[in-house]
Amino acid sequence: MKFTIPLLFSTVLMSALSAQAARTVLPLDEGWKFSRGDFPQAENPSFDDSRWEKVSVPHDWAIGEEFDINIDYQMMKVVQDGETELRLRTGRTGALPCFGIGWYRKSVDIPADKKGSAVFLEFDGAMSNAKVYFNGEYVGTWPYGYASFSLDATKFVKFGEKNTLAVRLDNKSRSSRWYSGAGLYRNARLVYKSPTHVAYNGTYITTPKVSKDSATVNIKTDVENPDGAAKISHKIYAPDNSLAASAESDNATREISVNVPNPRLWDIETPNLYRAVTSLFDKNGAEIDRYETRFGIRTIEFSRENGFVLNGKKVKIQGVCMHHDLGPIGAAVNERALRRQLETLKEMGCNSVRTSHNPPSPELLNLCDELGLTVQNEAFDEWRHTKCDNGYHLLFPEWAEKDLTAFVRRDRNHPCVIMWSIGNEVSDQAFSDGGATAKFLTSIVHREDPNRPVTAGIDNWRKAFSVSRIPHELDIVGINYRAGVYDYFVRNYPDMIFHGSETASTVSTRGTYHFPAKRNKNPFHEDYQVSAYDLETPPWGEIPDEEFAALDDNPTFFGEYVWTGYDYLGERTPYNPGTPSKSSYFGIMDLAGFKKDRFYAYQARWNPDVKVLHVFPHWNWPDRVGQDVPVHCYTNYDRLELFVNGKSMGVKSKNAKSKNPLERYRVVWDNVKYEAGEIKVAAYGADGKKLAEKFVRTAGEPYTLSFSTDRKDFSADKKDLIFVEIDVVDKAGNICPRAGRFMFVKVDGAAKLKALCNGDPTDLTRFSSNYMKSFNGKLLAVLEPTGDRGEVSVIAYGMNLKPKTLTIKIR
Ligand code: GAL
Repeated sequence: MKFTIPLLFSTVLMSALSAQAARTVLPLDEGWKFSRGDFPQAENPSFDDSRWEKVSVPHDWAIGEEFDINIDYQMMKVVQDGETELRLRTGRTGALPCFGIGWYRKSVDIPADKKGSAVFLEFDGAMSNAKVYFNGEYVGTWPYGYASFSLDATKFVKFGEKNTLAVRLDNKSRSSRWYSGAGLYRNARLVYKSPTHVAYNGTYITTPKVSKDSATVNIKTDVENPDGAAKISHKIYAPDNSLAASAESDNATREISVNVPNPRLWDIETPNLYRAVTSLFDKNGAEIDRYETRFGIRTIEFSRENGFVLNGKKVKIQGVCMHHDLGPIGAAVNERALRRQLETLKEMGCNSVRTSHNPPSPELLNLCDELGLTVQNEAFDEWRHTKCDNGYHLLFPEWAEKDLTAFVRRDRNHPCVIMWSIGNEVSDQAFSDGGATAKFLTSIVHREDPNRPVTAGIDNWRKAFSVSRIPHELDIVGINYRAGVYDYFVRNYPDMIFHGSETASTVSTRGTYHFPAKRNKNPFHEDYQVSAYDLETPPWGEIPDEEFAALDDNPTFFGEYVWTGYDYLGERTPYNPGTPSKSSYFGIMDLAGFKKDRFYAYQARWNPDVKVLHVFPHWNWPDRVGQDVPVHCYTNYDRLELFVNGKSMGVKSKNAKSKNPLERYRVVWDNVKYEAGEIKVAAYGADGKKLAEKFVRTAGEPYTLSFSTDRKDFSADKKDLIFVEIDVVDKAGNICPRAGRFMFVKVDGAAKLKALCNGDPTDLTRFSSNYMKSFNGKLLAVLEPTGDRGEVSVIAYGMNLKPKTLTIKIR
């Protein structure tokens, strides 16, 4: 089968509107009152919320709280992990109090001159079971916490008065397999529109024809109360903001096609974005609505022979799966924190993100559009059959169609979105009704967007292919893990298009190494860490090297999505039952966003622009003098030579023909006796010429600290968070790779301390605290600007460490 999709695509954005246009967007970010618990009458304007906490939205009510490993304490069986008996699970969802009921209230001034407008309340996500009230009246509900929705509050509005908006959330325990976050954790807004307006997410832009000289841009507009519109116009602006094309019609609901000359294509290297500005006019010629859709012009194609083809060029998917939490910031969406994550992924050579296992924030997709990252956009982790007692299966019968429709309509204009995933490892794989459910969901996606393929992540493949036959209902089949049997799928299903929708699940702790360094499918260490030698996985997992081998040997698989780009809260595999751990070990980056060694395994393979020579472990092993400390290297150089204190340990190369994946994708010196000092790896070209060298030195005693920031320029915008890395260093400035120094962090001036994080999954110090230990030499401080210009000083104190101050200027 060949699935061909000539098209283009885009994103819907609310524009900044000119004075004469009737649409006005009021962000609902500041001035909220919040309390946990349930309160009768809290929807009423007269309710006394004076003792509630003042918060701004996006807000995650649990992230700054105390960890308690008793939260979500349960006896259970995780069937997907192969468990057959009830076992104790603690902290499965991050050990934070994200479950229960909470209320948000906000007073909103609605000016008298808005009378006659329609008034909508938009939420990009509310965790979960949101019930929305306006002036004490019930406006509506949306239960799925990851869904974006809009509610019409017009009939409850009092113009020229103060109005009261109230939202009740009920985030049920046992509803998630990971940290869901809690609260109004995404952006919300109030939108005034003329009664005749472009509907919520109401444009759909495609490019049925794209050539070098021109692109046909097709715009479908969904207009509410279309009789009020005598004319519709679209203006298309090129990436440089020049007017590229325009069209108009006297039929507001008509589909319109325009030609854009010399289109600048959206691509991974050149993420060019166009804007369509849609205006509605009344019969007097007055503009009554203006709506902006961002989109890109590109073609995508998937086929068995060529895999994924973007703008006529074959692209191997080099992807990662991402949960939605932002480590110490939690689920509360923040564009700066997301950008920091995505930029590091780009640096690694990553070209795709799978939004495991739910609709992402609009900000994530906007950033992927801007940065040139493709997206597998995923809707659900559960269908009709259960994984969690209070999971999505309870909502499925009533909400699946509404959720999926809203999801596709919201995201179908983003050029970054290249495929839709309707589900991840759903339990329905093993049930005979699974195929019918897959067919139902696929047909919804095809109805809303015939231009992109539908996939799903399959793990229970024997049942999925024979009992439910879910793969037979998909355009593209995603296989989770099972690198060892890729050839089986390729041989037995000659009409199917395959990719590794979830791969690796390597577990590692940044900077912690266990001995002996050998492949381990069931790790347990008494420090509740896993080895950063990248040799440890749960029983179903693969190390990066094994997955690389499977992909290279089975090129029909068009790429992989590694589990996961970043560590996330909850799912502490392999330390699930009864351990102190709060967060995952799967990430290529840790919870603070610091790179683990694994980053370089992927960069060496994925990013041809970077010459990689990454040597590990660190060289501070006073406890192993005279014993073996294997030295590993991720590289894309041809030949390497290791020296220990100047003595050669031999020249080695990767061996593409080896049956042992470790020999294919990394260079390993196993028998290296530790002695303090310096190790050096020299890289040689094919002609024997030295091209690069890398040193790892034994660090001395911790002496002081060293700071680095994620950028050089900082703005006073409260949302423009500042990430400060604090390293414990010796007198010579070497990072002390085992330092776990307790530190106090003090921030003064034009920013405040928002969170600390050290990336240690077992550290239960609250993120909102002003103290934390460094972990393996590093600590991250997240700063939130106060909104004022000026200087910020960051001071870190630790016993027997010379204190250090960092000064930052805020423009
Ligand atoms: C997969 C699942 C993911 C995560 C992962 C851990 O089976 O889809 O959500 O649980 O395992 O290895």
